[in-house]
Amino acid sequence: MATAPGSGSHGPMASPRVLRTQVGIIGAGPAGLLLARLLSRRGVDSVVVENRSRAYVEARVRAGVLEHATVELLEEAGVGERLHSEGLRHDGVHLQWPGERHRLDFVDLCGRSVWVYGQTEVVKDLIAARLAAGEPLLFDVRDTAVHDVTGDRPRITWTDADGTATELHCDAVAGCDGFHGVSRHAVPAGVRRTWERTYPYAWLGILADVAPSTDELIYAWHPDGFALHSLRSPTVSRLYVQVDPDERIEDWPDERIWEALARRLATPGWTLRAGPVREKGITPMRSVVTEPMRHGRLFLAGDSAHIVPPTGAKGLNLAAADAWLLAEALAAALVDGDERLLDGYGERALRRVWRATHFSWWMTSMLHPATGPGADAFDRELQLAQLRYVTSSRAAAASLAENYTGLALDR
Ligand code: FAD
Ligand code: PHB
Repeated sequence: MATAPGSGSHGPMASPRVLRTQVGIIGAGPAGLLLARLLSRRGVDSVVVENRSRAYVEARVRAGVLEHATVELLEEAGVGERLHSEGLRHDGVHLQWPGERHRLDFVDLCGRSVWVYGQTEVVKDLIAARLAAGEPLLFDVRDTAVHDVTGDRPRITWTDADGTATELHCDAVAGCDGFHGVSRHAVPAGVRRTWERTYPYAWLGILADVAPSTDELIYAWHPDGFALHSLRSPTVSRLYVQVDPDERIEDWPDERIWEALARRLATPGWTLRAGPVREKGITPMRSVVTEPMRHGRLFLAGDSAHIVPPTGAKGLNLAAADAWLLAEALAAALVDGDERLLDGYGERALRRVWRATHFSWWMTSMLHPATGPGADAFDRELQLAQLRYVTSSRAAAASLAENYTGLALDR
């Protein structure tokens, strides 16, 4: 991070501190941190600004399943060591509905696996690597704003944690600030196009200090609603139940959650171990895709441009794939002077995004029954027919396995 000549003092009315870098990155989630890391390894400087604290970002419980290609990418980024010692390779998942549990063997079906390693851990590893390299990563900034992205000298402005107004001049801005960030709104409304699907349910998720009752994830259809048994480690379980989108977390004491999980996940000869709940929250289910992912010198990556419902375990993996595509394209432009990959960035990224959007919608539609009075019995029978099909047809199972474990990065 270079301080430009002419930077002034930092009082409230003083001119802002002025910095200069090649790529200004907004957001220290998986997309922003991985992009910064990949750029650094390609000889491109960046500054990352994040409006939350380091402790908050490192503790935010979210995704847990990494695709094969995401794992390879983290290895390439030099942050694969702890993933390999503490992460768990999973060669399949279970799909179930009342009375039946079926395992899909990913290795047999498509030759790939996934890894269970929390997003919190990925983020911690990337932050540690960035700080160890002495590269700029600023937490607790306020009032982030993006300027002049259609010109040659885009800028990001913010107020530092200590109150210093700062202006960052860069060659490109990467908007990696998630779904509630500011970057997407820097694409003018007349240019931006959004596709959206809101699902009539949400997930209530818990993190519990109890050994998982399963060695591989269980996705369960049940007339009361979907349930998922996932995990984080041999001593920490992560579980979800489908709830109404307007449900309040206060109405779900731990006993009620464990009861719902035990009922929905029940299968003959198997019991669910309950334990202390460390964290719980409700996540709405939405699909959103925004286009374009490039506007002038602004490039969107990850949840700032698209979100998927979590059923397909794709959000973090899409963020990682965007970061890779964008790092390649920015390095080609800023190191070799070749802008062609940058020109094609949005289109390449969106191809993968729409594939993952379809898969996530499909998994969601198959596994979440409408509940309550008026629930559509026809839809439920279709869901069960589809579940029987994907667990009995090798072709259908292979399609699920291929999508779940993910496409190669360059596809
Ligand atoms: P984020 O992680 O949202 O990071 C954006 C960052 O930008 C944040 O740190 C934010 O604080 C910061 N920011 C926001 N606004 C500003 C601003 N104005 N200035 C500066 N910084 C700003 N995905 C999977 O692949 N597999 C799963 O198993 C999975 N499970 C999930 C389960 C749950 C319950 C949830 C909620 C999500 C799950 N996801 C999963 C999705 C995944 O967590 C997200 O897709 C992923 O976090 C996207 O990364 P990102 O870096 O694009 O965005
Ligand atoms: C998780 O472990 O948090 C998780 C796993 C699989 C999903 C969604 C979330 O599909």
